[in-house]
Amino acid sequence: MNTTIFDSFEKHKLIPVIEIPEVQHAEPLGEALLKGGLPLAEITFRTDCAAQAIKTMGSRFNELIIGAGTVLTIDQVKAAIDAGARFIVSPGIDAKVVEYCMAHYIPITPGAITPSEIQLAIQLGIEIIKFFPAEAAGGLNYLKAISGPFNKIRFIPTGGINQDNITGYLGFNKVLACGGSWIAPKKLISEKRFDEIASLTEKALQQIKESK
Ligand code: 3PG
Repeated sequence: MNTTIFDSFEKHKLIPVIEIPEVQHAEPLGEALLKGGLPLAEITFRTDCAAQAIKTMGSRFNELIIGAGTVLTIDQVKAAIDAGARFIVSPGIDAKVVEYCMAHYIPITPGAITPSEIQLAIQLGIEIIKFFPAEAAGGLNYLKAISGPFNKIRFIPTGGINQDNITGYLGFNKVLACGGSWIAPKKLISEKRFDEIASLTEKALQQIKESK
């Protein structure tokens, strides 16, 4: 397993979950994240231009670590990796997708929200889990309760995370980082409000720094 990517998650503590409406938004968005101080981006396969956006962003910004989110199939893993994605995120856990990534040394964080799903992830060799949908499932209290038996697993809570609750999650030692769309929401991207994205990013990182 490639630990460099996960080290980077732990270092920055925040993975922006991004839905790119059109490929033309990829470059200014990458610029805004970097301007805000965050060299990480999870581009979700929720829009048709996801692979192209990963490619465009990656070829423009060497310093940006770009991964693919909402990856549901092996074909999407292949498309993402061909485009230059360096990590894969799935909302749930599909053994075939996880096994494919493990066999090809592709860092993957599958989603899990129940003890059984976490056990399946462990069986497949996963050590870092996307805890999704974090808030809707019961938030930090629920995470604390279900993570008790799983000493070696670190979590990336995602789903409903924002500036009001992120530091609470990050204060829990089993949380590696948090994911969320609030710093680069689709609306701001499609309205080309990239300065606002840069300042939301900067603000979030500042808040994380102050809470340490
Ligand atoms: C995801 O796919 O990771 C989530 O949709 C992100 O959740 P959020 O939009 O509530 O941050």
